[in-house]
Amino acid sequence: MTNQQSAVLVAEHLSKSFQIDEIGISVIKDVSLQVKAGEFVVIMGKSGSGKSTLLSLLAGLDYPDSGRIMLNQDDLTVMDEEQLALKRQRDMGFVFQSFHLIPTLTVAENVAFPLQIAGKPDSERVEELLQAVDLNHRRDSMPHQLSGGEKQRTALARALVSKPSIVFADEPTGNLDQKNANQVMDLLINLQQSFGSALVVVTHDQAVADRADRVITIVDGHTV
Ligand SMILES: Nc1ncnc2c1ncn2[C@@H]1O[C@H](COP(=O)(O)OP(=O)(O)OP(=O)(O)O)[C@@H](O)[C@H]1O
Ligand SMILES: [Mg+2]
Repeated sequence: MTNQQSAVLVAEHLSKSFQIDEIGISVIKDVSLQVKAGEFVVIMGKSGSGKSTLLSLLAGLDYPDSGRIMLNQDDLTVMDEEQLALKRQRDMGFVFQSFHLIPTLTVAENVAFPLQIAGKPDSERVEELLQAVDLNHRRDSMPHQLSGGEKQRTALARALVSKPSIVFADEPTGNLDQKNANQVMDLLINLQQSFGSALVVVTHDQAVADRADRVITIVDGHTV
């Protein structure tokens, strides 16, 4: 099936519930979706509708109760933690609302980190990314010395440094003012397009959704 072949990510019949006070709350209900190579997909929906939960399942940060998730033909749901960590290292990039930079590493070291842990240091690649997010002049700064926009630009460079086939971003502009939000989103889309990664972004921003190839809306754990 050609459709399946060009898909980086195929999720089928995902369900997830959480136990709260011994009551099972069903958060993701039979969700199936595909993301094609190089595609930019936005996930929208009200607060509490299950967007972050879905993203962590797709990114192999949590296991679904049922269903399967194929990333480049490998089923994430049958992998153990160690295999998942390796898969994330090789195939995925992440951008979080609250940046998640390593506080004891400089900007350049944060960007280089995924290549370091993969045992594939590549200083040229790090330079390329630092240039791309316009942070060469802050390369030796520590995260606490950066503005919010600079922190998120560092995180973008780190997410894309290892040429992942897919990048996941959960409200990447949620902690930024409008000007920085626009700049970070422009950069993320430019980087994704120039490196050919697929991109899945959770956002509340209609202007971001307008730029996506496809918008998936979640209502009460279902995609509509
Ligand atoms: N680890 C957890 N334990 C228990 N309940 C959880 C857990 N994670 C999420 N939930 C619940 O699942 C529902 C969906 O949460 P989720 O974070 O996916 O929503 P969201 O769509 O990302 O919302 P927001 O736009 O506010 O970020 C919420 O009711 C939340 O309380
Ligand atoms: Mg969320």
